[in-house]
Amino acid sequence: MNHDIERVLIPEGEILAGVERLAREITEFYRGSEFTVVSVLKGSCIFASDLIRRIPIPLELAFAAAHSYGARTEAGELSIDLLPTGNEVRGRRILLVDDILDTGQTLKRLKDELLASGAGEVRTCVFLDKPSRRALEFEADLRAFEVDNLFVVGYGLDYAGRYRNLPYVGVLRDAAIS
Ligand code: IMP
Ligand code: MG
Repeated sequence: MNHDIERVLIPEGEILAGVERLAREITEFYRGSEFTVVSVLKGSCIFASDLIRRIPIPLELAFAAAHSYGARTEAGELSIDLLPTGNEVRGRRILLVDDILDTGQTLKRLKDELLASGAGEVRTCVFLDKPSRRALEFEADLRAFEVDNLFVVGYGLDYAGRYRNLPYVGVLRDAAIS
């Protein structure tokens, strides 16, 4: 698998330092009030699990799922596969957590769906942000790292379902992209 990686963009140690920094900000922001982390599957499962274990205040966990990428590196049409139940969302402060903010369509759509389900507040937190790719006006409230317009994998991010288990973020070799 490592042979498919052209170079490491963010090594494991830097990732964990970035996650630690976000966890501190989140802890200060929500201290004294209940909130729910909504992890967007599958990409954010690793980021969200590292993140919440560094937040030492009460929180609940829920999941959403959306997909827009097939075996390609360009965004396709978005479909929502899973949303938290109304009970998990209604009147709650929500922190929506995703792996990467790219065109913005996934997080914009999920945020709108959660607000429509009665969430009291929805803030967004992403592991990576690719601002150069934005197709609509949307910014995350929190992000760990900004990346250039490159297709990256690892730490939850996939290409055609693979590479999510790499402990670092890397750039794929052209030869690994079919
Ligand atoms: P958006 O809806 O265009 O913002 O895209 C968000 C989704 O696209 C992410 O949750 C990822 O699943 C996927 N994505 C965007 N860029 C990358 C990338 O560089 N590597 C892997 N997945 C990506
Ligand atoms: Mg994804």
